[in-house]
Amino acid sequence: MKALKNQGRTGGRHEQEAQGSRKRCAIITFGCQMNEYDSTTMASLLAGEYDLTEDPADAHLIIVNTCSIREKAEHKLYSLVGRFRRLKERRPGLRIAVCGCVAQQEKERLFQRMPHIDMVFGPQGLYRLPQMLARLEAGQERVMAAELDEGFSIPAVPRSPLGLEPARAYVTIMQGCDNFCTYCIVPYVRGREVSRPAGDILDEIGQLVDMGIKDVTLLGQNVNSYGRKGGAGTDFAGLLSMIDRQYPGIRLRFTTSHPRDLSVEVMECFERLDTLCEHLHLPVQAGSDRVLKRMNRHYSRREYLEKVELLRKIRPDIVLTTDLIVGFPGEEEEDFRQTLTLLDRVRFAQAFAFKYSPRPGTAAARFEDQLPEDVKGRRLSALLAMQEAIGLECYRALEGTVQELLVERVHPHQEGMVQARTRGNHVVNLQGGPELVGRIVHAEIYQACNHSLKGRLCAEYPDGNHSGIGDDPLARGSSNEDHTDVCTCDNT
Ligand code: 5AD
Ligand code: SF4
Repeated sequence: MKALKNQGRTGGRHEQEAQGSRKRCAIITFGCQMNEYDSTTMASLLAGEYDLTEDPADAHLIIVNTCSIREKAEHKLYSLVGRFRRLKERRPGLRIAVCGCVAQQEKERLFQRMPHIDMVFGPQGLYRLPQMLARLEAGQERVMAAELDEGFSIPAVPRSPLGLEPARAYVTIMQGCDNFCTYCIVPYVRGREVSRPAGDILDEIGQLVDMGIKDVTLLGQNVNSYGRKGGAGTDFAGLLSMIDRQYPGIRLRFTTSHPRDLSVEVMECFERLDTLCEHLHLPVQAGSDRVLKRMNRHYSRREYLEKVELLRKIRPDIVLTTDLIVGFPGEEEEDFRQTLTLLDRVRFAQAFAFKYSPRPGTAAARFEDQLPEDVKGRRLSALLAMQEAIGLECYRALEGTVQELLVERVHPHQEGMVQARTRGNHVVNLQGGPELVGRIVHAEIYQACNHSLKGRLCAEYPDGNHSGIGDDPLARGSSNEDHTDVCTCDNT
């Protein structure tokens, strides 16, 4: 769960002038990067009238952007929104909105369950937020926008600096999903696949670059099928090439890739395009063909391994991460063993593993051979223990190397420290102050931790060349830092 922050950015001159009359909005986000992006889109839509606050008690409007991927995420929403009832009793003018995937799934049931909610809208409805608020202001008691439109196209919303992190940002290139993996609720809550026109995406990246953003992650439920339905102007490899040409100074990433649709052309982009960082998140979900088939994944273990092999041939230093589900209905010990042997073989730098959670309306929720919780729990622990060792080994391999880092933020918990990211997506903690945020620096990695690295700043190389380690005062005396794991996996 994250509250969208002002991050020291303001909504621009016009908005600052009107500061006195501005209202405050708290946007709380559960779930994936797509939801985080949607929350910044809502901040942009509201930027003319609202500032952001992290404190719901201080807000005129609270928006809870929800996730329904696993049951636990849904439960968290109910307990949080339940607590806002008191706030509303004290301040009847307070508006409470629940949006995102649970809103799409539950629709008016949310109003029934929590009558203090004023607005319910799904991922397609959020673009009408200003109009929905106007209807409330005009006296309408409740507003809902939770229909899924087959002909939906993603509107272009000018990006406001409100809610943006200092150095990195997401850009949605497509949303929805046509795959219907049997465990997954996404097609039911985000609708069919729709790609944005390449021109809109390039424009949006331009706006972000103008605001100082240096690391852009392209988002979609299945980015590899970008443009497949037409109307986008290009395919995914074409889009990556266009961005690389137009914005050669940025770091470019994307997520999520469906292994079946990962084309050789896209793999070759990792070799061909300087902007494209050498990291790929490629969710495998399971290592057994029998389970993959029942998940409706449309690739075999062998095909997945062949793609990994080809990727590593094309880009030997590529960092691979993945998602896994354990305890899928009917998963036998032998199937699970195959997942472990796949982990052992691929050696992912990081794996996000989840116990299977039956989701309403999905095919797998109707399978009869559901597994007991204790079996799921035991398998998850065994998998995480194995991955912990593999991950640490991957991180240790970086000890003693010099890495190019983008400093993303002041460390949230450790004074005098900043957090940075390698091109391979490893988080590095280093000594330094706010003046480093947003800068590309080089650091020597001196210690690997479970999900992060410790680094020592080197002199900077504005021309990108290595000119020696340790000639910067910040490079000295960095022995007292403690690492913070930033793995966002909730292992529900
Ligand atoms: N149960 C558990 N994990 C799930 N995921 C998706 N649906 C479910 C579910 N029903 C996991 C997948 C996906 C990640 C975002 O969440 O591993 O890649
Ligand atoms: Fe993202 Fe899926 Fe959760 Fe929706 S249900 S917020 S698409 S992870």
